[in-house]
Amino acid sequence: TVLPRVKTIDAKDPTEVPVIVKGWVRTIRKQKTLAFVQVNDGSNLKGIQCVVAFDDVDETTMAQLDKVTTGCAVYVEGPLVSSPSKSGEQNIEMAATKLTVVGDCPPDQYPLAKKRHTMEYLRTIAHLRPRTNTIAAVARVRSALAGAIHEYFQKAGFLYVQTPLITASDCEGAGELFRVTTLDLDNVDALPRASDNDDEENNNNSQAVDYSQDFFGKPSFLTVSGQLGGETHACALGDIYTFGPTFRAENSQTTRHLAEFNMVEPEMAFADLQVAMANAEGMVKYVVQHVLDNCQEDLQFFTKFYDKQKMASLERLVNEPFARVSYREAIGYLQEEIAKDPSKWQFPDVEFGTDLATEHERWLAETKFNTATFVYNYPKSIKAFYMRDNEEDGGETVNAMDLLVPGVGELVGGSQREERLDVLEKKLEEVGLDKEDYWWYLDLRRFGSVPHAGYGLGFERLVTYVCGIENIRDAIAFPRYPGNAEF
Ligand code: 4AD
Ligand code: MG
Repeated sequence: TVLPRVKTIDAKDPTEVPVIVKGWVRTIRKQKTLAFVQVNDGSNLKGIQCVVAFDDVDETTMAQLDKVTTGCAVYVEGPLVSSPSKSGEQNIEMAATKLTVVGDCPPDQYPLAKKRHTMEYLRTIAHLRPRTNTIAAVARVRSALAGAIHEYFQKAGFLYVQTPLITASDCEGAGELFRVTTLDLDNVDALPRASDNDDEENNNNSQAVDYSQDFFGKPSFLTVSGQLGGETHACALGDIYTFGPTFRAENSQTTRHLAEFNMVEPEMAFADLQVAMANAEGMVKYVVQHVLDNCQEDLQFFTKFYDKQKMASLERLVNEPFARVSYREAIGYLQEEIAKDPSKWQFPDVEFGTDLATEHERWLAETKFNTATFVYNYPKSIKAFYMRDNEEDGGETVNAMDLLVPGVGELVGGSQREERLDVLEKKLEEVGLDKEDYWWYLDLRRFGSVPHAGYGLGFERLVTYVCGIENIRDAIAFPRYPGNAEF
């Protein structure tokens, strides 16, 4: 008979009924008559302790027990029983009746045999690091956040739209693009072909495509943002959101930037900047509340080992209104603070027009306001062409906002979009972009144009913030950054 399989996260009651657990061994400790095998199946932090009493199992299991090492894959069968715990809380363990090693794991070669590893080292074994507590907890929180993001927008009636990853447009106009090209274009000989073993004479059809021009007929790139495509759908369907990969060839070795990251980009028609800010606040609060409700164990782990203030900070985030400050005011606060001791700052020169650095953003969110903080009405000169001019503010600013959070800095960037055809055409010209390239984007302003607004939330920055980890490279399974595309 096949026993019911139990995930260790669900092993909560001493049912005394035999079940099967499948997972990887974290530790094994042998005594005279007992062995304690800690098995983790990834469903929670602790896994389960399986106690093998030598008197209660047959020779087969005893022989299997000899093969158990840290990292091996096992099936363990037995009833769930309560175990005495020092803290007095009820602990569940398995009284193993049978143990089978499914895949062994040579301890002398296993990179995770030792208990403690630096995060830097773990990045070099990204294929194995989900077996560690930190990376497994990040993966669970990340999955919960992604689910909650979809839930928030779906409940609010937003349509989920997938925008293309390959595009001819540079949404942010920052020139941080990865060019998409065929391998053949650069080096025809380097491309391995299935037909390489064929007779040379039968092989002369391999150049069917004319690689002398771009595959797509014009230069194309990996997208830096799904926004422009998102706008087309918002201006037809109302409220929409995208949630997918975006790419930036920023050559910055920071703890906040990835070359490949995921962005959540809602776009709302008949909406202004205030609507976008309210939506961003509602969404971030909703998803953080979701992990507070569903990932307690993992959040306690992060609070204990990474950021002692984490749990309190998350509670405050969901319970208090986000701070709101104009860029002009923020600059004023920063100047005042920096004047006290300029030597404490890496970038002490701050004036209207300065693109805030992470240290500025973090000071605002951590020290000045001590919670999530919207900065709005940024100078035109440091923001993208599509943002709506803010005439009420002397013409120097645009209706843009960033949401800054403690520990991370910028989490969200958004704006009201310029919906006036003539103004937008002028703005394109001013930044040196070709109107012809944006003909379809301009069409949205020709045919039934409507005030609309949206924002982009960097998903890995959200994961970094919620977990309180130091480096965004640990918030994604396989980080892409300058010098690394392994795995
Ligand atoms: O502020 P950004 O550049 O805004 C946009 O791309 C807009 N088109 C979004 C929109 O309005 N629909 O990027 C949005 C967010 C940032 O606030 C940040 O959280 C994240 O994306 N982000 C990055 N995350 C990781 N690595 C990078 N290199 C990032 N660049 C931006
Ligand atoms: Mg930004």
